[in-house]
Amino acid sequence: MESNKLYIETYGCQMNFADTEIVLGILKNHGYSLAENPDEADVILLNTCSIRDNAEQRIYGRLGNLKVLKNHNPDLVLGILGCMAERLRDDLILEKKVVDLVVGPDEYRRLPELIDVAFNGGKGIGVKLSRTETYDDIVPHREDGLQAWISVMRGCDKFCTFCVVPFTRGRERSRQLASIVDEVKQLSDRGFKEVTLLGQNVNSYKDEENDFADLLSACAEVDRSMRIRFTTSHPQDLSDKLLYTISEYSNICNYIHLPVQSGSDRILELMNRTYTIDHYLKLIEKAKKIIPGVSFSTDIISGFPTETYEDHIMTLDLMTQVRYDGAYMFKYSPREGTKAFKMNDDVPDDVKTKRLQEIIDLQSKISYEINQQLIGKEEIVLVEGPSKKSELFLSGRTDSNKVAIFPSATNIKPGDYVKVKIKRATQATLFGDFVCQVDPFNLSALKTA
Ligand code: SAH
Ligand code: SF4
Ligand code: F3S
Repeated sequence: MESNKLYIETYGCQMNFADTEIVLGILKNHGYSLAENPDEADVILLNTCSIRDNAEQRIYGRLGNLKVLKNHNPDLVLGILGCMAERLRDDLILEKKVVDLVVGPDEYRRLPELIDVAFNGGKGIGVKLSRTETYDDIVPHREDGLQAWISVMRGCDKFCTFCVVPFTRGRERSRQLASIVDEVKQLSDRGFKEVTLLGQNVNSYKDEENDFADLLSACAEVDRSMRIRFTTSHPQDLSDKLLYTISEYSNICNYIHLPVQSGSDRILELMNRTYTIDHYLKLIEKAKKIIPGVSFSTDIISGFPTETYEDHIMTLDLMTQVRYDGAYMFKYSPREGTKAFKMNDDVPDDVKTKRLQEIIDLQSKISYEINQQLIGKEEIVLVEGPSKKSELFLSGRTDSNKVAIFPSATNIKPGDYVKVKIKRATQATLFGDFVCQVDPFNLSALKTA
């Protein structure tokens, strides 16, 4: 029998992208092969995100397009996975009649069975959340490459009042350290050069007596020529031990994504973020001391309920104090079922937009200034491949995750580490000259220089 062809699109955060690889791992084991585009597929899956209303609207738009394919091919199975599946459940099937399959993040093992239900004309629904599912034993399907994501935990117990994740992903649970380390080994054997450990709040990782710092050092030990990144750190739980671990290993990137959300203590409390700006700034200071040259990025929300102009100014002030390398910036979007949803969404949309724009403009200015200061300095870059614009240039990333472009040099190939001297910079990109190749087992070459 010819194998069924699967086409999958992924939206939302990196954890969803990592989940798609798990889904592919499961379905390939059941004889599915990949279709290049949707019109060749027997099964189309959208792995979806619910974080803000516009994320969901995008999926509705996409379903509208895909419906046309279903008119041509009534046997086509169209399914929704991920956070929207969990949040809206059978509403998606009842309201949007085009969908045959709705499967939430903890039920992917049942996909082969649920797709069969849909093939036989039924509706495949699996939306139970689990306290234990971590897909520890599933080998994710990954194309060869240099960079990989590994989910080290699932769910979230933080219940920030604006956030749907605890509802769409369920309770927090960690994978076993040994199985994660094994996965890193396999990736290293396949020639991967960078791994990002993922969790909604990696700092609360726990496997028996091992915490996240233990996991990070165990992963860094696997292959000292492999860069280790991680995201996301919650400012409340970031330990000194973790900071020392980052500074100890030259292959753990000196880069911390530390979402602050707002610069106002009053708003932070309404958000249930459980830290104050004072705590946050002290943490940043401490991290800078322990990890020389560390850089930070953040997430910021504008227009949370009751946010005043003064609160907004406090956010801008905080940004000026910390000077983030980069930020993900959003307008507050009320999500049904969350605590904040019951608060009055009283900041008018045009005010949210205006504040967001000020936040974005300030961040652009800061990113630009930080990059200008790098001119004349040397950075270690992991080469990824030819630059988008020209084969004559190579592109890669620095330790702090900035894109760096430099002229191709003989014998330099993707996966190599090189030293680049920066000579020009925009807000998003560094341009420089090739200096020399770097010993991949001594990535601290610069740090100690
Ligand atoms: N676990 C991570 C982030 C998960 S969601 C953390 O705690 O930081 C990524 C970002 O989306 C959040 O940091 C927040 O800035 C934003 N976000 C989440 N819910 C939102 C909402 N309802 N409206 C606007 N932005 C939101
Ligand atoms: Fe959402 Fe807060 Fe959990 Fe992050 S920590 S996923 S923002 S509830
Ligand atoms: Fe979106 Fe779910 Fe991630 S809501 S941001 S895909 S955890």
